[in-house]
Amino acid sequence: MNLVAAALPVLDPVSPQAAAISDLFIAITVACAFIFAIVTTLVGACIIRFRSKPGDAEPRQVYGNTRMEIAWTIAPFLLLLWMFFMTARGMTASNPDPVAGREPDLIVVGHQWWWEARYVKSGVITANEIHIPVGKKLLVRLESADVIHDFWAPQLGPKMDMVPGHPNTIWLQADKPGTYDGACAEYCGNQHAWMRFFVIAESEKEFEAWEKNESSSARFHLVKNLPGVDSRIHEGWNAFHEMTCANCHAITDEYPTKVSTPLPNAAPNLTHIASRRTLAGGVIENNPANLRRWLKNPQLIKPGCKMPNLSLTDEQVENLVAYFETLK
Ligand code: CUA
Repeated sequence: MNLVAAALPVLDPVSPQAAAISDLFIAITVACAFIFAIVTTLVGACIIRFRSKPGDAEPRQVYGNTRMEIAWTIAPFLLLLWMFFMTARGMTASNPDPVAGREPDLIVVGHQWWWEARYVKSGVITANEIHIPVGKKLLVRLESADVIHDFWAPQLGPKMDMVPGHPNTIWLQADKPGTYDGACAEYCGNQHAWMRFFVIAESEKEFEAWEKNESSSARFHLVKNLPGVDSRIHEGWNAFHEMTCANCHAITDEYPTKVSTPLPNAAPNLTHIASRRTLAGGVIENNPANLRRWLKNPQLIKPGCKMPNLSLTDEQVENLVAYFETLK
């Protein structure tokens, strides 16, 4: 099934919501393939059987056949009725109505060109990597901070538009542990193609551990690193605040000052940046070398993105990387 998943993840669903779509797709494709086979066979047979031969006279002319006409009107009508029924059923199953009044578990906000994920109960805020517990159905509210985006994790459920000022909801569920790719499915500007995300489905225990770590402030990590700490980390902390990074990116480190509220969210929350797999909406793998390249000139890696080239010196970049690497 891995080959299918790699080539056509929609055909390897891991939730009832995605299975409804995959089943509908297969049923309609099989029905259409069957009709296609009948039509091409009949056309082929006619071409061979009734081809013109030397000495042929004008063939006998046929004017209408009521029985056949009724048959080929009723058959497609029944077929369409069946497709309508299947589609309506698939739509209800792939995106069941939320229970009235139920608060969402998770709010996902589309930004040009990254995803913000806010866990309502724990207050955890992360970006581009959405962790969920296996087998649990989470109600997700989809919002947009700017233009229309579209949330789509093909193995987990339907596509759903994120419309500014008009939140939509979707059920997010994965019945098998794993990392599932997702992408923006609505053209939203020049880096639309690099608006990727992962949904990481893990056991309840792993999820709780992740959420606990995400809820902790970065101060914990700084303090842990404090004895004999690399002075670069402190220099990096200074650079982060001096170079105005903190205007768009939140790091809840509370060290040594209190963080302002509300947290800035014009750009991804970096409190636990070092624990993420990718940077910049999936363009590059998250490692110190790539982080260096990214900070040096984000516009080279993701042209048009909202992160400006701050013309940082090599030393500032090194210090920032040293600081960010502590943000696990
Ligand atoms: Cu967001 Cu395309």
